[in-house]
Amino acid sequence: MAKTKTAYVCTNCGNDSPKWLGKCPVCGEWNTYVEEIISKDNTSKNSQHLFEVSKAKPLLLKDVETGEEPRMDMKDDELNRVLGGGLVPGSLVLIGGEPGIGKSTLILQTVLGLNSIKTLYVSGEESARQLKLRADRINSNSENCFIVCETNLEQIFVHIQNLKPDFVIIDSIQTIFTDMVESSPGSVSQVRECSAAILKFAKETSTPVVLIGHINKEGSIAGPKVLEHIVDTVLQFEGDQHYMYRILRSIKNRFGSTAELGIYEMRQNGLREVSNPSELLLTQNHEGLSGVSIAAAIEGIRPFLIETQALVSTAAYGTPQRSATGFDLRRMNMLLAVLEKRAGFKLIQKDVFLNIAGGLKVNDPGMDLSVISAVLSSSLDISIEKHVCMTGEVGLSGEIRPVNRIEQRILEAEKLGFSKILVPQNNLKGFTSKVNIEIVQVRKVEEAFRQLFG
Ligand code: TYD
Ligand code: MG
Repeated sequence: MAKTKTAYVCTNCGNDSPKWLGKCPVCGEWNTYVEEIISKDNTSKNSQHLFEVSKAKPLLLKDVETGEEPRMDMKDDELNRVLGGGLVPGSLVLIGGEPGIGKSTLILQTVLGLNSIKTLYVSGEESARQLKLRADRINSNSENCFIVCETNLEQIFVHIQNLKPDFVIIDSIQTIFTDMVESSPGSVSQVRECSAAILKFAKETSTPVVLIGHINKEGSIAGPKVLEHIVDTVLQFEGDQHYMYRILRSIKNRFGSTAELGIYEMRQNGLREVSNPSELLLTQNHEGLSGVSIAAAIEGIRPFLIETQALVSTAAYGTPQRSATGFDLRRMNMLLAVLEKRAGFKLIQKDVFLNIAGGLKVNDPGMDLSVISAVLSSSLDISIEKHVCMTGEVGLSGEIRPVNRIEQRILEAEKLGFSKILVPQNNLKGFTSKVNIEIVQVRKVEEAFRQLFG
């Protein structure tokens, strides 16, 4: 009988130690060590493997053949774009996201749309019946999609060998285990070993593989950070469960830009691509309402107009409440401080609530001006004109700083029928297009407020 050996493994970076440690000496995180069983036999087998003669020979970099990387069309514009123009053969893609956000739906839907590609969907979480029910909901039937409910990695490879699929999905990596490691599925060593074996398979056979991964309560992908290092592409599927919008973000991509972003809408019958987000985000008629302003924002490289709502009310308790949904709370506090200094806004007795429409989370600094204007509008109880939108980053001294891709923002606003846009001063260099929208350059927040509130 093999002697079992346990080790303590850091769940953040995968470093192991014979003893429990409070702080990981490698990544510096606290309380990340967990005990795991590691079989002694396999460790020696693994190290033997290192000395096998490999077929690969060192090549001069200039002699390496490249050519245009062929890409697999996913038949889904949003996904194609986030992947950098389609899926690269032999690449390993990890999709992470909260439970119930729609990861399995997204992938199943994509696979069902790829009729000409033989795919194997390995499900460790759902039964074949459940998958069929979901496929019926999505209302699409593919001739070429095989499913198997299996969690043992060695068995999965047997199925792959028999079927020879062109595309493999593993839902989810945390449910898969290999006989090589004795710890339970989802543990650091299991996740690490399984993904390394899958990576080897993907590279050797040029078969693209998509792994679905859980995320932990801090919002990062569960299992060791090593997993993110191993794979070629990490995509994050996010959104608020109570809203229908979902965002697919690229966090790492060896074959494309990480600035790309895909937007979906969760429907009764699956996910729908949203090619023009502004139209969905601006459906409310807010004429005459105070506390609402429209920002011309950019997420990734896509411009869209989004509604920012603020509510300022008298605080009932000694400590005023500050809450922000879809916007960084610390940034909001910073903007409130600027507002206090520049507009004489007395924060001490006020509760401030901020909400970005649609449950989206926007990281664009160009939102600042809109946030600060919405707060002031609510505080003064004066509404902002319906056809005015704005963009600009606000600095600590109340100056409005230039933002990137100003041209795209202005054109998007024009396209959606806005009549006026406030933009930072000196941001229009190189902007030559003739547009049918009044562009007002502002240098300080005071100037913007004068434009908006007279
Ligand atoms: P799912 O793909 O199971 O999430 P994950 O794999 O990320 O855990 O998504 C499940 C949720 O999506 C579930 O709450 C129901 C909803 N849903 C729809 O609204 N419409 C649909 O067509 C489908 C298939 C799911
Ligand atoms: Mg799932």
